[in-house]
Amino acid sequence: MGSFVASSSLTYCVAVLIFAVFCDGGTTSPFVRKIWPSVAMPFDSDVFALPLGYNAPQQVHITQGDHVGKAVIVSWVTPDEPGSNKVHYWSEKDHKKKKYSEDTVVTSYKYYNYTSGYIHHCTIKDLEPDTKYHYVVGSGHVRRQFWFVTPPEVGPDVPYTFGLIGDLGQTHDSNVTLTHYEQNPYNPKAVLYVGDLSYADDHPLHNSLRWDSWGRFVERSVAYQHWIWVSGNHEIDYCPEIGEYTPFKPYLHRYEVPYRESNSTSPLWYSIKRASAYIIVLSSYSAYAIYTPQYQWLKEELPKVNRSETPWLIVLMHTPMYNSYNYHYMEGESMRVVFEPWFVEHKVDVVIAGHVHAYERTERISNIAYNITNGLATPVRDPNAPVYITIGDGGNLEGIANNMTEPQPDYSAYREASFGHAIFDIKNRTHAYYAWNRNDDGTAAEADSLWFHNRYWYPDEEGENGNSRKRTINKMDQNCLIFQSWCP
Ligand SMILES: *[C@@H]1O[C@H](CO)[C@@H](O)[C@H](O)[C@H]1NC(C)=O
Ligand SMILES: *[C@@H]1O[C@H](CO)[C@@H](O)[C@H](O)[C@H]1NC(C)=O
Ligand SMILES: *[C@@H]1O[C@H](CO)[C@@H](O)[C@H](O)[C@H]1NC(C)=O
Ligand SMILES: *[C@@H]1O[C@H](CO)[C@@H](O)[C@H](O)[C@H]1NC(C)=O
Ligand SMILES: *[C@@H]1O[C@H](CO)[C@@H](O)[C@H](O)[C@H]1NC(C)=O
Ligand SMILES: *[C@@H]1O[C@H](CO)[C@@H](O)[C@H](O)[C@H]1NC(C)=O
Ligand SMILES: *[C@@H]1O[C@H](CO)[C@@H](O)[C@H](O)[C@H]1NC(C)=O
Ligand SMILES: [Fe+2]
Repeated sequence: MGSFVASSSLTYCVAVLIFAVFCDGGTTSPFVRKIWPSVAMPFDSDVFALPLGYNAPQQVHITQGDHVGKAVIVSWVTPDEPGSNKVHYWSEKDHKKKKYSEDTVVTSYKYYNYTSGYIHHCTIKDLEPDTKYHYVVGSGHVRRQFWFVTPPEVGPDVPYTFGLIGDLGQTHDSNVTLTHYEQNPYNPKAVLYVGDLSYADDHPLHNSLRWDSWGRFVERSVAYQHWIWVSGNHEIDYCPEIGEYTPFKPYLHRYEVPYRESNSTSPLWYSIKRASAYIIVLSSYSAYAIYTPQYQWLKEELPKVNRSETPWLIVLMHTPMYNSYNYHYMEGESMRVVFEPWFVEHKVDVVIAGHVHAYERTERISNIAYNITNGLATPVRDPNAPVYITIGDGGNLEGIANNMTEPQPDYSAYREASFGHAIFDIKNRTHAYYAWNRNDDGTAAEADSLWFHNRYWYPDEEGENGNSRKRTINKMDQNCLIFQSWCP
């Protein structure tokens, strides 16, 4: 017993000593992951299998269909002909009342020499809260049945667990991330997906078949629970060299969101309420300076958030505003300058972004005092500021981002170059448990976590560096990265 105490306190002293020498900011994890080839899974992989039958609906996905969660948008693709437009659905509570929804949009598009299948978006309305519904798409021999659970009625103490995934792509690492997400013991109910979906644009001619394969890959989750969509740079698909001039063409045809219900004029930015959270989706690749539509919308949107109804204010975007990696360094700076003062003024709880293919969590800091002449340009601790989380570590074919700025800046609480996902588990109006799971190339391991204290109801300081263990810096040099999307 005595010797155990002695040796463990010795280890502790050494660790603290090394930490003090090397670390300016928070924790840089020394975790070194196994290297898998960063390539898309081949088209004949099991995860891309076509459903059987002529014109069988594929790429089934659902998302919230209105502002408060009483509607669901069901989307799917039929490859050969439009087929049935209708979704047949019924509540588990009432099997007899089966309904057919009529409210369907069918669309398709061409991209270079690719023509999409028939893309269906059907909005089902007036659903009961917190209720399991079964639904069927397709007709005849190719009816496919799925189910979802509607979110509980919006209210200040309604518990709800979100999953956080970004930059997923379609590699073996992506499949591990999705599998770990599905196995997460907190049983997350909906995904906040922070952009960069298929990475089709990293393939020659932006190979649009990769949009279809991605849709089939994630169906196993998104046909059963809502994924809340955010657009990233890999959704732009702007490629004048092959005559494609319309930004976001494939993404906007395939992923419908309820933007009109939050009075937005573009599907690239919008808001929803869900349980006790108010979620604002922003577009890093649309204009956001003063006088632009997105600026105007957000300016009017933030004061509408009623924290007595939805205590948790969550902002999603693709490009992080705080990022201490040497990838995409300061790319979020121009949006930060415009929007950060509002985030502090309105006490946003957390800002979640992707883009950098690694993980990072900041302290509560702001950098809003600067006015061109006063020189006050350093992030400072600020209890009204959000925590910024970068979760672009879904595992796409561009590989891991492992080159970090040194030393770790003060604002950075924890950073690690590993693939993974996280959960945001709201308990009530004051507390939410947040945990990031690294894939660990085997089993999901909880590597960073924090009890969030709500900025409106309980603005106390959170635990220093969460529950992460402080460790020494370890340089990880592996893998090269391709950050330019493909264009001839
Ligand atoms: C599109 O063009 C590429 C390159 O020329 C070719 O490999 C592919 O088969 C074409 N696809 C279609 C649908 O014609
Ligand atoms: C993807 O993961 C699932 C679930 O773990 C597994 O069944 C499947 O074989 C994997 N596919 C590939 C191509 O890795
Ligand atoms: C949208 O605008 C209309 C008209 O101004 C207003 O009644 C409605 O409450 C607004 N909806 C949201 C979600 O802000
Ligand atoms: C805010 O929400 C609470 C709880 O739902 C409600 O009682 C109150 O009237 C709302 N305030 C405003 C200004 O809408
Ligand atoms: C800039 O900030 C300094 C110090 O905070 C203040 O004295 C000065 O008036 C500000 N200038 C402008 C133009 O707001
Ligand atoms: C890391 O990034 C810095 C800054 O871009 C660069 O100078 C350095 O060579 C990079 N290191 C490695 C190992 O790639
Ligand atoms: C809110 O949840 C936290 C964490 O589970 C708990 O400690 C706290 O007592 C809860 N508050 C109320 C008012 O129930
Ligand atoms: Fe990105």
